[in-house]
Amino acid sequence: MEEKLQTLLREKRTFRPPREFTRAAHVGSKAIYKEVSSKRLRFWANQARELTWFSKWKKVLEWKPPHAKWFVGGRLNASVNCLDRHIDTATRNKVAILWEGEPGDRRAITYWELYRDVNRFANALKSLGVKRGDRVAIYLPMIPEAVVAMLACARIGAPHSVVFGGFAAHALRDRINDAKAKVLITADVGYRRGQQVLLKRNADQAVAETPCIEHVVVVRREEAPSTQIHMEPDRDVWYHRLMADAEAYCKPAVLDAEHMLFTLYTSGTTGKPKGIVHTTGGYMTQAVATTRWVFDLKPEDVYWCMADIGWITGHTYVVYGPLALGATAVIYEGAPDWPDRDRVWDIVERYGVTVFYTAPTAIRAFMKWGPEHPKNRDLSSLRLLGTVGEPINPEAWMWYHRNIGGERCPIVDTWWQTETGGIMITPLPGVTTTKPGSATIPFPGIEAELVDANGKPVKVGGGYLVMTSPWPGMLRTIYGDDKRYREQYWSRFPGKYFTGDGAKRDEDGYFWILGRVDDVLNVAGHRIGTMEVESALVSHPSVAEAAVVGRPHDVKGQVLVAFVILRSGHHASPALLDDLEEHVVTEIGAIARPEDIIITAELPKTRSGKIMRRLLRDIATGTALGDVTTLADPAVVAALKEKYEANES
Ligand code: WT7
Repeated sequence: MEEKLQTLLREKRTFRPPREFTRAAHVGSKAIYKEVSSKRLRFWANQARELTWFSKWKKVLEWKPPHAKWFVGGRLNASVNCLDRHIDTATRNKVAILWEGEPGDRRAITYWELYRDVNRFANALKSLGVKRGDRVAIYLPMIPEAVVAMLACARIGAPHSVVFGGFAAHALRDRINDAKAKVLITADVGYRRGQQVLLKRNADQAVAETPCIEHVVVVRREEAPSTQIHMEPDRDVWYHRLMADAEAYCKPAVLDAEHMLFTLYTSGTTGKPKGIVHTTGGYMTQAVATTRWVFDLKPEDVYWCMADIGWITGHTYVVYGPLALGATAVIYEGAPDWPDRDRVWDIVERYGVTVFYTAPTAIRAFMKWGPEHPKNRDLSSLRLLGTVGEPINPEAWMWYHRNIGGERCPIVDTWWQTETGGIMITPLPGVTTTKPGSATIPFPGIEAELVDANGKPVKVGGGYLVMTSPWPGMLRTIYGDDKRYREQYWSRFPGKYFTGDGAKRDEDGYFWILGRVDDVLNVAGHRIGTMEVESALVSHPSVAEAAVVGRPHDVKGQVLVAFVILRSGHHASPALLDDLEEHVVTEIGAIARPEDIIITAELPKTRSGKIMRRLLRDIATGTALGDVTTLADPAVVAALKEKYEANES
């Protein structure tokens, strides 16, 4: 970990932005930070008051490290906060979701319509036997029914587990089994780059090995079904049939603040993904507070967060945050460059998007499209831009500011994680002076710091990013594995939450995130565990051993490079390489497709048998070899490096 941090520190150039980018235009009152830091719990209690509660909490925080309870004794329902409370106001008739499918189909759904659908679907879930506390898996494209499904689960107190629609059948199966979900909600198909994604077919394959699933609800996405959809009698039901039979009103469950709202699986440092557990009161408080302060949403805003609901960004900033605030949110199903590179700007112009939130990988792709993009579109409706998911390079930041923001939109670079539930480090527009490439300073009420390998605080310089006190949206545990929760997050630096990220802090106290220092990779903003990809490779009959590392990539941030040792009797061939690639895609999904696979006879290992990933990274990156004296057989590295370079040319 330490050497990875050192490498990252070496790679990160110091960056002095031109004056125009740090001008006082973005500076407002700093008083909010001062005020909050001395009265942290009072600040969070004030934010919680923005929600609608059935009964108020007795205690703001109960902290028995590493377990926190927020708003103890309070009762609420997340769907009431996103829907019911708007129904008695003018927001009832406001558009909640401006939806656009990839083929070009469109829907505008008002708060009333969404309320109506969520109530009906909540009753439908009940009719399938779903009770408070039962887990429901959701495997859907970016369609309004995905939001309906999440909120319907929340309404009856059934924690949802959304699985990204790009994941393969096996990945879906493992997540369903880990959470022991009772019902799976999927669709016949989704659309991606003009292709149908056969979700129901994947679901059928997954459900064949998930004894816990009692019913599968299928949304009909395709108007004129050309694909034959298999419906298993007694198990599978069409969404539209259920809705037609369902009662119009479902009384919302009165839930404890600490009732589990959802679990969301994310990659860690082992082969097994972690079910991150979020509860209702604290998560909703942070979702609402950050959406309010960071995006500063006003009633007239049209807000577009490009994230898929399969990720935490989609949960917090497509669904719970904006809807709780009564905002109008754009949801787009497909790829931003489909059918052409105008698509994303066409959507911005047509709906008059004012706040736009995306990932650095998308921004770098836009940059590559060349200066003619997005020249032919009027983007003057935009007033605020956001970025999330990975470190943004200053060049991309400044390009975003100039070419998309027309030099008038502040940029919020927001650092956070699946585990944190909501934004943690970010500028506040109109308040915090920005610096291109820096996520700036912690959100009010958040206490972050850097520590060295011994846990000693680092005021200025490089170190490990930790949180020194609990926050409302923090994960409560890992589903079914509290031991892993303690070990993963709270043992490296006792009493402090370890993020897994390295960072630098400058003289102004600004944070410059360097990236992961553990075995987690970030490919095009998607988090992928090296061990997961390694297990997928090793499950192929021809593979004896595999090691996966990341290599920097100018658009995707990082790509995967796999080193593979074949079992005896198997030989390297282009066909085998293709087969291995496809195997990873079938096991995990296209996001885990290795960029390169290197077949090798040996892997560099220490005397104790640990694979030396640093050397593999050096080989994959083509940089000079580091210290090889601790290697069992230094010749292995030289041979590997040679082979790799031959492969490249
Ligand atoms: C990891 C969390 C929650 C956002 C979506 C990703 C990296 C996230 C930033 C940023 C630099 C960032 C970190 C973090 N990351 N935002 N603004 N600057 N790095 O959520 O899949 O849980 O991944 O994404 O490395 O640990 P995630």
